[in-house]
Amino acid sequence: MSSIQATDPKHIAIIMDGNGRWARSRGRERVFGHVKGARVAKKIVEHCARKKVQALTLYAFSEENWSRPMPEVNFLMRLLARYIVRERRSLVKNNIQFRCIGQIEKIPEDIRTEIEGTIKATAENDGMVLTFALSYGGRQEVLLAVKNLVQLAQQGKVCPEDVTEEFFSGMLQTSPLPDPDLMIRTSGEWRLSNFLPWQSVYSELYFSDVLWPDFSIDDLDAAIQSFRRRDRRFGGVKSSPFQPESLHSL
Ligand code: IPE
Ligand code: IPE
Ligand code: MG
Repeated sequence: MSSIQATDPKHIAIIMDGNGRWARSRGRERVFGHVKGARVAKKIVEHCARKKVQALTLYAFSEENWSRPMPEVNFLMRLLARYIVRERRSLVKNNIQFRCIGQIEKIPEDIRTEIEGTIKATAENDGMVLTFALSYGGRQEVLLAVKNLVQLAQQGKVCPEDVTEEFFSGMLQTSPLPDPDLMIRTSGEWRLSNFLPWQSVYSELYFSDVLWPDFSIDDLDAAIQSFRRRDRRFGGVKSSPFQPESLHSL
């Protein structure tokens, strides 16, 4: 039977989904859900920092989200900029280090400047690492690492034997963070939508039916409780008293 592991996740990754449906179910525009969702993100970030979670990675905008109607994309970008500017002081105060992964070069320049400002302002913090996945796609991240690798190989700086899992992980944008222990998705969707495909191979998955704007600290704690009950085997087995001597004895 599964043993109970009382360890807490060091790295939590969250796919914050369901903003649009939350707003539509109230007869409001989808963007209203994004505004409420940003407030929830702030609450969850502060809660995780208080709980001494080492790393929190939030999926804020996917590579594929660029295909949404322009007014929604523009609104999301402005909202992001507002969050990043407004939260700068509180991130510094809470000793949170802010980072971004994704194709940041696609983000409008004025917003990128604010992102860089917050990264710089929090660079010396050594508490929780908060990573925003912005314009992020997992396949694109892996492809970029492969392209960089090919270039290094062409320059004779790397040979096939060097390319271990650790080496490749080190070429991804998430480096040097450990892989997520717990991956949460809200809104009742059971998929990962191009989020951290390399890093999540052994993440514990937790799907919540709650729409992100309704996601509470209690919901996060329920996900952590569920994680504590998981038996992470990483392909191994727990020692068993049963040792068959040979296949023929079965
Ligand atoms: C998640 O909520 C936020 C982003 C993807 C930016 P959605 O906007 O996907 O909301 P639903 O899934 O359509 O309800
Ligand atoms: C994933 O949600 C991206 C974010 C939460 C930022 P989506 O709503 O874009 O994903 P799909 O389209 O349901 O797979
Ligand atoms: Mg969605």
